[in-house]
Amino acid sequence: VKHLLGIRELTRQDIELIFTTADQFKEVLQRPIKKVPTLRDTTIVNVFFENSTRTRISFELAEKRLGADVVNFSASGSSVSKGETLIDTVNNILSMKVDMVVMRHSATGAPHFLSKHINVPIVNAGDGINEHPTQALLDAFSIRERLGSVEGKKIAICGDIMHSRVALSNIYCLKKLGAEVTVVGPPTLIPKHIAQALDVNVSYNIREALEWADVANVLRIQLERQNMPLFSSLREYSLAYGVNRKLLDSLKKDIVIMHPGPINRGVELSSDVADSGQSIILDQVENGVATRMAVLYLLGRNEKEPATAK
Ligand code: CP
Repeated sequence: VKHLLGIRELTRQDIELIFTTADQFKEVLQRPIKKVPTLRDTTIVNVFFENSTRTRISFELAEKRLGADVVNFSASGSSVSKGETLIDTVNNILSMKVDMVVMRHSATGAPHFLSKHINVPIVNAGDGINEHPTQALLDAFSIRERLGSVEGKKIAICGDIMHSRVALSNIYCLKKLGAEVTVVGPPTLIPKHIAQALDVNVSYNIREALEWADVANVLRIQLERQNMPLFSSLREYSLAYGVNRKLLDSLKKDIVIMHPGPINRGVELSSDVADSGQSIILDQVENGVATRMAVLYLLGRNEKEPATAK
């Protein structure tokens, strides 16, 4: 694999190789000296056309822990505001001898488009409502860490499925690893034809879905991607679909709570749940560094090619 554009393109063996590699990097990250010189002669640019806290810092830390030289680019404050295109922007950066690109973009397919025009590895850090592959990898890695394996586990993906690249990448990843997946939320936020095509269960009842589940991955309502509201109000959404202590206490078992962040506290997830022992939200963030180190290492160890535009 030359790029990481999505989980859809990966095999189960690819994912398992990333996990066993991430296991080794996680062990490195426990040491007093957390760096290895694996990508010492590699320059990586993080090109972010959309805001990020976790993904951006996590990639930068992963790159620095691998000994790479790191350059960060944000669309805001750049010549994108003067009308420069994506290809021109990236080719100008590559002219400065960059070996790998990590990119986030609000347009679905932007990294796939770019991959046809440049000849260095691209890692998709989230493209529109399509995929967020490294988030799915760190999520599945965290489930494997907490529950021993992903195979056979029941995972409920809760909330705004329609606008979530995390949901799509998680579905691909969890299904490839042998988990059962239910998507649960308001009918207006679940594209039923996609759920059928991806062979996942659909539920509109959060209590029933969580009664069934071993793990709930709770997603943020992505108001920035909705042209018009797809539910009546955040308050009503929270009452109908919010995951809170009262709901969890009514279940017959303890389930694992996940969230990719950022959390809308008190909307899709209450603070007393987010900050409880059932939550592995900060483990997910911690595991993001080792998982991204594994992805960058596996792509970057391939023989380097000159960075030229087609
Ligand atoms: N989970 C995630 O992608 O968070 P950021 O948008 O802060 O990177």
